[in-house]
Amino acid sequence: KESKAEVVPASSEVAQKLKISIYFATWWALNVIFNIYNKKVLNAFPYPWLTSTLSLACGSAMMLFSWVTCLVEAPKTDLDFWKALFPVAVAHTIGHVAATVSMSKVAVSFTHIIKSAEPAFSVLVSRFILGESFPMPVYLSLLPIIGGCGLAAATELNFNMIGFMGAMISNLAFVFRNIFSKRGMKGKSVSGMNYYACLSIMSLVILTPFAIAMEGPQMWAAGWQKALADVGPNVLWWIGAQSVFYHLYNQVSYMSLDQISPLTFSIGNTMKRISVIVSSIIIFRTPVRPVNALGAAIAIFGTFLYSQVSFY
Ligand code: 3PG
Repeated sequence: KESKAEVVPASSEVAQKLKISIYFATWWALNVIFNIYNKKVLNAFPYPWLTSTLSLACGSAMMLFSWVTCLVEAPKTDLDFWKALFPVAVAHTIGHVAATVSMSKVAVSFTHIIKSAEPAFSVLVSRFILGESFPMPVYLSLLPIIGGCGLAAATELNFNMIGFMGAMISNLAFVFRNIFSKRGMKGKSVSGMNYYACLSIMSLVILTPFAIAMEGPQMWAAGWQKALADVGPNVLWWIGAQSVFYHLYNQVSYMSLDQISPLTFSIGNTMKRISVIVSSIIIFRTPVRPVNALGAAIAIFGTFLYSQVSFY
């Protein structure tokens, strides 16, 4: 009996690890596809406020359809749930639109190198806003993250201030989003999938008026004519693909956030960026100088160190 009692938790631990690994691998793969289509769209049709809105609209429509057809059981929510979701949705909206604006101005790889500093933002927010303190090695591990990102930014061939600031704002917003989300999901009956669906719907409502104010139908119509003339109707498929994959990768990431801590989530997210950076450099033939690549490597190595010291 005793040996059975020892075996069961160990095997369920293995099963849990396997499940998380499958979530992570799916999340990363979907994210690479999203990033490629997103950049193809932004190159042909540079309206990041509209494309961000369309990604949220597509996810919201997919989930509403799943609920109505009972493919997915609709969540039981009350007013308190939506009130608690509001700050998460504001942070999600800001983080999403800021990253998309960034990618419309700079190479995908550059946005993601800067976004690999998210764990550093997580520690700084937890330290200075939430008053949590960390052991010294955690602070020391931030040095290569910040230094590496700084080096990569300073040596970026096509540096653009809006591109840089967009990625930085996105980092800050997503740290808040992850902290608030995890709190909001704790002890609630809403699953990670449905939680992200509600988040998409609320973010869509928040973002739509801003997208109209920042860009608006006249700009979109003119841009659309140009995109059709330059690329042809394929651009429509690309928009569809970036929207569907945006929803899918986020949905899977929330299904994993349901199971792990915000810290593990943000480390998984940074590791994900390695695949995005490498694949986008290959696909878009992004010029990279050795010193620039060194900066990115130092930053990512810093995240690895951070993950090692923050778990113990
Ligand atoms: C977005 O558009 O929301 C960003 O590309 C997402 O960034 P993430 O890689 O942090 O999810």
